Amino acid sequence: MKILVTGATGNVGRHVVEQLHRAGKQVVALTRNQETARMPEGVEVVQGDLFTPETLSSVFARVDLIFLITVGGEEYSPLPGQAIIQLAEEQNVQHITVLWSGEKGTVEQAVEDSNLSWTQLHPGEFMSNTLDWIDSIRAEGVVREPFGNSLSAFIHEADIADVAVRTLLENGHTGKIYTLSGPEALTVHEKVQIISTVMERDIQFIELTEKQARSRMQKENIPEEHIEMVINWFANPSKMAYTVVPTVEEITGHPARTFKQWVREYFIWKVKDN
Ligand SMILES: NC(=O)c1ccc[n+]([C@@H]2O[C@H](COP(=O)([O-])OP(=O)(O)OC[C@H]3O[C@@H](n4cnc5c(N)ncnc54)[C@H](OP(=O)(O)O)[C@@H]3O)[C@@H](O)[C@H]2O)c1
Repeated sequence: MKILVTGATGNVGRHVVEQLHRAGKQVVALTRNQETARMPEGVEVVQGDLFTPETLSSVFARVDLIFLITVGGEEYSPLPGQAIIQLAEEQNVQHITVLWSGEKGTVEQAVEDSNLSWTQLHPGEFMSNTLDWIDSIRAEGVVREPFGNSLSAFIHEADIADVAVRTLLENGHTGKIYTLSGPEALTVHEKVQIISTVMERDIQFIELTEKQARSRMQKENIPEEHIEMVINWFANPSKMAYTVVPTVEEITGHPARTFKQWVREYFIWKVKDN
């Protein structure tokens, strides 16, 4: 049984690769740059770009299962869903687990219209988004964000991977759309407070206006559509963004990991790094 992991070098994909590898499965990791991929020993690394799915025919032909991301490039553009899913059908892929981008796109539509066995994972915000705060915490002990009171039931990426791995390896997940969340909904103030407590360091929160937040993203060359989606996600959060759901525990048998745990695992050493 061979499993193709797309987004293998990303926050979620790295966990998916590691978990499948630890379970003794044959993993094929897709990346646009083999040299920087840093995959565990024994994992096959394949270079490829999901924007040109026709070039991935031979990889799709060799795998049974696929973990599939839905947007690509640094611009977070929608991937050519129909072409990717058609290729998977042609190559008789047995099951695809799709990780959405925060809104339903072409991949989700194509998989629903296909004859494939599929599962969709719909998490809200990832805990790893707080990695954007590292530079300002390191340099000034400050976090600058808009919408300080906006609640988010954000999720640890290892939990998304745990669920993904089960949907790939176990029966019973075909045709299911799983909404995923972390174990608690926190405001930005509360997130900063937790980082501050775990790191035993004073960290100040400075609330940006929406205009300041937009202009910061524009300076980072984030496409307008993506800026709009991010602003909207926090300014007018859907119920899903702040609602805690039991899906992770129901599927994995363990409680969803907390932000405190995430900060201990990632933030401390990343802030000390460099
Ligand atoms: N952050 C959030 O709050 C959030 C919430 C819901 C959903 N999501 C979605 O979850 C997905 C995974 O996020 P993440 O944080 O794990 O990823 P990430 O750390 O942002 O990394 C992006 C991954 O996508 C791969 N990739 C990008 N363009 C590609 C292309 N054209 N062809 C092949 N691979 C490509 C990259 O691979 P290489 O660079 O190695 O080629 C990398 O592994 C994203 O699609 C994101 O939209 C994110």
